[in-house]
Amino acid sequence: MKSRSETVSIVGMGYVGLCTAATFASRSIRTVGIDIDEARVEQIRRGKAPLHEPQLDTLLKQAVKSKLLEATSDISRAFGTDTTFLTVGTPSQQDGSIDLSYVKNACEDLGNVLREKRGYHLVVVKSTVVPGTTNGTVKRFLEQSVGKKVGSELGLCANPEFLKEGTAINDALHPDKIIIGSNDKKSANRLKRLYRKFYGPRLPPVILTSPESAELVKYASNAFLATKVSFINTVANIAQQIPGVDVGTIAEAIGLDPRIGGLFLKAGPGYGGSCFHKDLQALINYSKNNGYDSTLFRATEETNEQQSNKVVDMAEALLGSLSGKRVAVLGLAFKKDTDDIREASSLRVIIQLKKKGVHVIAYDPMAIPNTKKQLADQIGYADNPYSALKGADCAIILTEWDEFVKLKPKDFQACMKTPNVVDARRIFDPEEFSQLNYVAIGLGARRSLRD
Ligand code: UDX
Ligand code: UDX
Repeated sequence: MKSRSETVSIVGMGYVGLCTAATFASRSIRTVGIDIDEARVEQIRRGKAPLHEPQLDTLLKQAVKSKLLEATSDISRAFGTDTTFLTVGTPSQQDGSIDLSYVKNACEDLGNVLREKRGYHLVVVKSTVVPGTTNGTVKRFLEQSVGKKVGSELGLCANPEFLKEGTAINDALHPDKIIIGSNDKKSANRLKRLYRKFYGPRLPPVILTSPESAELVKYASNAFLATKVSFINTVANIAQQIPGVDVGTIAEAIGLDPRIGGLFLKAGPGYGGSCFHKDLQALINYSKNNGYDSTLFRATEETNEQQSNKVVDMAEALLGSLSGKRVAVLGLAFKKDTDDIREASSLRVIIQLKKKGVHVIAYDPMAIPNTKKQLADQIGYADNPYSALKGADCAIILTEWDEFVKLKPKDFQACMKTPNVVDARRIFDPEEFSQLNYVAIGLGARRSLRD
């Protein structure tokens, strides 16, 4: 007799849950996507992603059409599946510590559904949670609502994801590793079997560990990457003080040492996005509550916070007083190819510019609708980079959009009142832009040509 093929359900159709669901379905694994937000579910049913992520719309359309993905707000649909992934959000509380209320709700709702289930069901925590959450809060809430202990009929694993916005689908299809944290062999083997079906002969290295280690891997990963960015921004600030030095050269050179590695060494206005700040704060708080003050990670965050001041200082150095000046902000998204502005450095820079009495006019190819929701009419919005630059005293590049890379010195000269340019993303060639008042993060002053 042919064995029944495995099915999965995913609770939380946010960024991570939806990308995971779409990729599972693309590998012919029947998937039920569950979310409490009915409008979001309706949109997914129509094969339309409620967020911007390259390739996601195409995968979703195929998945919905082939009926391999079913979107619903009814969590009882998890009953008939073999494995349920929890991908609900884990935001920060006021003090920076992790807010587990969505995780608790999801566990309770799922547990009630699984009460009458006979046979094995595996629950997998994919949300980013501090060490001890899977074996603590999750296990407690699940066991209480299911009415049985984790073990022979109810499996539990921690299985963090490492998706990056903008390349999430590719990251989900080709991860560099899979981390499975479990207390028993049965649940780990079940999850590994599912991933073997997903990846076939291309199964990436699987690291089997305790749930607590799996949970910490995710935080350690984000903390390392964020620290690498704050490190290069620190080097950039030092380089900027030295005539003839460019942080780009320093990054390229040190990156050739395999112990350092060349990725994540791009100096800029500071990291943003929904994860780095949130996860560092959660880790700092978690560690503090356990009696250890993680000085390094606090410094990573502080350096990041200050980096936006550096950008404003550079504009101020070019213009003298900023009060009453018109500044064009090119780029609002926290990185290119996304409409996401969560924790974006653009917001920190804009707030400071506003405090100094600047008239800000911003342009971004995708992120204006989200920015309008947050800043409303506190700033002006332009339809294209040229109209943002029109009559401006200074331009600040805050996102590395391809569209901005194409701009030439003459575009700035033609549109602006005075061509002062602060390149906070290092997208322009300093030589080519030397005809303007051009300054850039990590670029020391040009050496005067003597002899
Ligand atoms: C994910 C999480 O896994 C988080 O822990 C990680 O740090 C980053 O990635 P994300 O996908 O960005 O978070 O979450 P978000 O965009 O907030 O979406 C969560 C979804 O879960 C929302 O659509 C929300 O409606 C839904 N939800 C929330 C439920 O379906 N049930 C709940 O009980 C709570
Ligand atoms: C990050 C992690 O990379 C991912 O593994 C995790 O699952 C979620 O958090 P994401 O937030 O999508 O992903 O973006 P990422 O590409 O890591 O960039 C984060 C921020 O760092 C951006 O603002 C980016 O501009 C900045 N950055 C990144 C730099 O300033 N310099 C760099 O060299 C790299």
